[in-house]
Amino acid sequence: MTHVIILGNEKGGSGKSTTAMHVIVALMKSGRKVGAIDLDLRQRSLSRYIENRKKFIEIKGKQLELPMVVEVGPVHLDSREASKVQETENFKSALEGMGACDFVVIDCPGADTHLSRLAHLYADTVITPLNDSFVDFDLLARLHPETGKVSGPSLYSEMVWEARKQRALTGVPGGIDWVVMRNRLSATRARNKKNMGEKLEDLASRIGFRLARGFGDRVIYRELFPMGLTLLDLGGKDSPVRLSTMSHVTARLEIRSLIASLNLPSAEMSEAA
Ligand SMILES: Nc1ncnc2c1ncn2[C@@H]1O[C@H](COP(=O)(O)OP(=O)(O)O)[C@@H](O)[C@H]1O
Ligand SMILES: [Mg+2]
Repeated sequence: MTHVIILGNEKGGSGKSTTAMHVIVALMKSGRKVGAIDLDLRQRSLSRYIENRKKFIEIKGKQLELPMVVEVGPVHLDSREASKVQETENFKSALEGMGACDFVVIDCPGADTHLSRLAHLYADTVITPLNDSFVDFDLLARLHPETGKVSGPSLYSEMVWEARKQRALTGVPGGIDWVVMRNRLSATRARNKKNMGEKLEDLASRIGFRLARGFGDRVIYRELFPMGLTLLDLGGKDSPVRLSTMSHVTARLEIRSLIASLNLPSAEMSEAA
């Protein structure tokens, strides 16, 4: 059975593509067969990340793991309805083509699209990275302007709710395990960090997600993209790039901690990851 992991949040720049690539590489390094689908057909950040990795392998002659990649679009037919039908077909056949994979990781755009909604119906795990800002929080829930109390769900949590409902109606076994993680956590802005933390804990039980330990704000995440590398590729004697600072070591721990908290089926991560 292929386990589908979705990176979703109707917000650009929250770290979906970066996290998707790190999850993909972590799973491959633990010996899993992984497929990747990029549904951000406009930005294609995950596809570009994987293409950069291929180029890096060619140029440096290093052996690095690569996921299986299937493209699903874009589709531009005369009518919007016809395009949706074609996109649905493309998506389903992409997933079927990855039947031999242990995991399929799907990166979603920061917008409400047909493909993103469709993918959520197939999700076993949804990971939502969230910048440490109430602007990002607003996609999950509304806060009362005076009391600061949660006053109701918001756009993205409604989309996950809808996907859960549809999944139950269609009799797909198992539910969606929804994991929210904070990204780009600042080492200094302690007050905002605490406020966000408290609000998220309060919200977790109300709209049904789990909170995972997040990632710190580190320049290395931006620097690795052009080489197609992740923090998990660094270090070790054959490493293409050296693992240089304490901050990188801590960052790797954060990634391992995220993978562990996903409780993936029999995915005990090997030391290599
Ligand atoms: N933990 C982090 N620390 C520093 N920069 C980050 C971190 N996570 C992501 N970024 C950077 O933030 C930007 C947006 O990340 P990206 O993964 O493309 O988000 P999304 O896919 O949600 O739009 C990119 O420039 C990326 O390199
Ligand atoms: Mg992206």
